[in-house]
Amino acid sequence: MGLTFLGIESSCDDTAAAVVREDRTILASVVAGQTSLHADFGGVVPEIAARAHAEKLDICVEEALRKAGLRLSDLDGIAVTAGPGLIGGVLSGVMLAKGLAAGSGLPLIGVNHLAGHALTPRLTDGIGYPYLMLLVSGGHCQFLSVAGPEQFTRLGGTIDDAPGEAFDKVAKLLGLPQPGGPAVEAAARAGDPRRFALPRPLLDRPGCDLSFSGLKTAVLRQRDALAAAQGGLHEQDRADLCASFEAVVADVLAEKTRRALALAPAPALAVAGGVAANQSLRTALQTVAAEAGATFLAPPLQLCTDNAAMIAWAGIESYLAGRRDGMDLAARPRWPLDQRAAPMLGAGKRGAKA
Ligand code: KG4
Ligand code: ZN
Repeated sequence: MGLTFLGIESSCDDTAAAVVREDRTILASVVAGQTSLHADFGGVVPEIAARAHAEKLDICVEEALRKAGLRLSDLDGIAVTAGPGLIGGVLSGVMLAKGLAAGSGLPLIGVNHLAGHALTPRLTDGIGYPYLMLLVSGGHCQFLSVAGPEQFTRLGGTIDDAPGEAFDKVAKLLGLPQPGGPAVEAAARAGDPRRFALPRPLLDRPGCDLSFSGLKTAVLRQRDALAAAQGGLHEQDRADLCASFEAVVADVLAEKTRRALALAPAPALAVAGGVAANQSLRTALQTVAAEAGATFLAPPLQLCTDNAAMIAWAGIESYLAGRRDGMDLAARPRWPLDQRAAPMLGAGKRGAKA
């Protein structure tokens, strides 16, 4: 059974608490989303997010403990996302965690949100080190070679938008609802992925860096050209644009994954983040993994997207590796996993991209 940790997550627009055991059992995982609070603004509003976290965090923690059937005194530690993310939300979580740790005398572990995502396949599938992780969400996009709980090498990442952001923007400019990923995927089912020749960004450049902002602009241009030529978009045009866009995203991510696996060969390829829900991307990555003789792992969706179970788990792994944090634990808006890698650009609507 081993250690039992409480995890707390509040770095973007989900308030979450979870109780996880060292034997990989998730005793409780509570996620309170804020989508409706931000719906009118076309993106996450940091001030609104921070306020909602401050209101919901203790309720989520209480609910997680109740569902796990445990009290604070039954736990072995408290893990909290200490960055990267929207600073108001991260601060809310860190303050609550410090209060709980001070009151209970439990050890406090500050977890990097990206480490939480990156270590998820160890929680869900118990895989060993090393492995290659592709993190693709609304705020993140990077290739990580994972060699230990705090040993990450960043092989490449986006130089502008994250792929989820691109899905959301494409949905918006085609008049589809948010979040854009599922809407674009649904529309693409009836579409022809070869109708529009969209650019395949950075494919001609060596390495694993990615770019999605030009692709989104190319969709915008095609839309405007169609609208000018025929006075508007037909249902089929929309479907074909979605299918063409989705195919390029899957293609480019697959090719860059091929390169990442060549740079850092690993027995397993894992994917995490909301965009990992995309079926054509999953299929493309599965093919790449098979070619390289690697196992392909995609955690269940509720553990791909933001949650606190991954934070509790990363906390357990760091604790076992000897990490302890004190009351001086800082909340960090930026916190690159791989300190040696060149810093990433932009801070994005959905939080830090570090
Ligand atoms: O990981 P996540 O829930 O939140 C953060 O970004 O932290 O990811 C949300 C992103 C959104 O941009 C959403 O449009 C995208 O994941 N997404 C998808 C799909 N489902 C969600 N993108 C493509 N295809 C999908 N099926
Ligand atoms: Zn995340």
